[in-house]
Amino acid sequence: MKKDRILVTGGTGYIGSHTVVELQKAGYPVVIIDNLSNSNAEVIDGIERITSVRPDFVEGDCTDIETLRRLFASFPDIKGIINFAASKAVGESMHKPILYYRNNLNTLLNLLDLMGPNGVKGIVFSSSCTVYGEPDENPVTEAAPIKKATSPYGNTKQISEEIITDVINAGAPFKSVILRYFNPVGAHPSAEIGELPNGVPQNLIPYLTQTAIGIRQELSVFGDDYNTPDGSCIRDYINVVDLAQAHVIAVERMLNDISDKKIEIFNLGTGNGVSVLELIHTFEEATGVKVPHKIVGRRAGDIEKVWANPAFANEVLGWKATTSLADTMRSAWAWQCRLRERGIM
Ligand code: NAD
Ligand code: UFG
Repeated sequence: MKKDRILVTGGTGYIGSHTVVELQKAGYPVVIIDNLSNSNAEVIDGIERITSVRPDFVEGDCTDIETLRRLFASFPDIKGIINFAASKAVGESMHKPILYYRNNLNTLLNLLDLMGPNGVKGIVFSSSCTVYGEPDENPVTEAAPIKKATSPYGNTKQISEEIITDVINAGAPFKSVILRYFNPVGAHPSAEIGELPNGVPQNLIPYLTQTAIGIRQELSVFGDDYNTPDGSCIRDYINVVDLAQAHVIAVERMLNDISDKKIEIFNLGTGNGVSVLELIHTFEEATGVKVPHKIVGRRAGDIEKVWANPAFANEVLGWKATTSLADTMRSAWAWQCRLRERGIM
């Protein structure tokens, strides 16, 4: 049976591109909208090389409601949305709060506004463990209190979750699955797609692999005086393909009315906390490649330690992150090497 079309906003981005691959593998026709502010259109070629299907692509900005109106008019069969489009760097958001509030919130409001009139049945929203702020206890369950966000970026995720809840509670004719990601890392095992932010990477792994290959001189470890065993921050690093697969399950849940709840929230993580220094060590062990690094001061807005209790997603979605951190590090390195072979980085 033909499956419903899914609109993937931010679909040429890092998590979006891996999710488009999994959606297409599961038989969903996809249309991507992306303004290419943090990605490039060649990602579509990589998706096609993996799946033998070229997703439809609209270059456009989701903060412009007229662009979205035209998109829905061109693709009247869209039944689900996965909203990845957002600005996403915690540190940058401390310096550019207006950019973050404008981009992340206007994108969501426009989509929610257009869903009902266009007969869209559900939206998967990319939230983040940043909504927990600095948690009192780890691992974190979905029941943990939402603490005051430590960055404008984190605040956009908290506000977005509230907006979705208010809109659905006000009687909107659609459902939402809110996915709180911990730290997605790695690349597709084919090395056809991976993380390739525009400019200097803000996130740890792309900075690390660019350092390992010699593009950057040295990786800065932001702080070794945190209250953790080795003093560096702790995160839950989850393989991006494992993460992408959870989105297909979420879409199926909404479109097939598998749950009678109109809003569901899931933590997506591995359940393992890993420090920055441990991660560097795992990368070096897994690849045999050294990463020059130095300890520098803390980065404003960073959380000390956070890792997931993913039991709810494991049970209810029947989903589990299974890829080892060593394999994930090897995939990130293979991707970086592929970029070098292609003369891109
Ligand atoms: P990304 O930057 O690689 O992808 C986001 C994509 O959205 C980019 O291709 C960008 O060009 C596009 N985009 C941004 N604003 C847009 C707009 N107004 N209109 C159209 N396209 C726009 O980021 P990612 O890592 O793939 O993150 C995807 C989502 O997941 C984001 O919402 C992010 O906040 C969330 N998230 C990411 C992480 C992470 O560590 N990567 C963790 C938790 C949550
Ligand atoms: N880090 C360094 N050096 C770097 C970059 C990062 O030491 O050059 C450290 C950070 O201090 C932090 C850890 O590596 O301790 C992870 O940092 P990232 O920037 O990779 O990730 P964040 O945890 O800050 O944030 C990311 C995404 C957010 C998302 C969040 C969820 O950027 O969008 O994960 O935890 F919300």
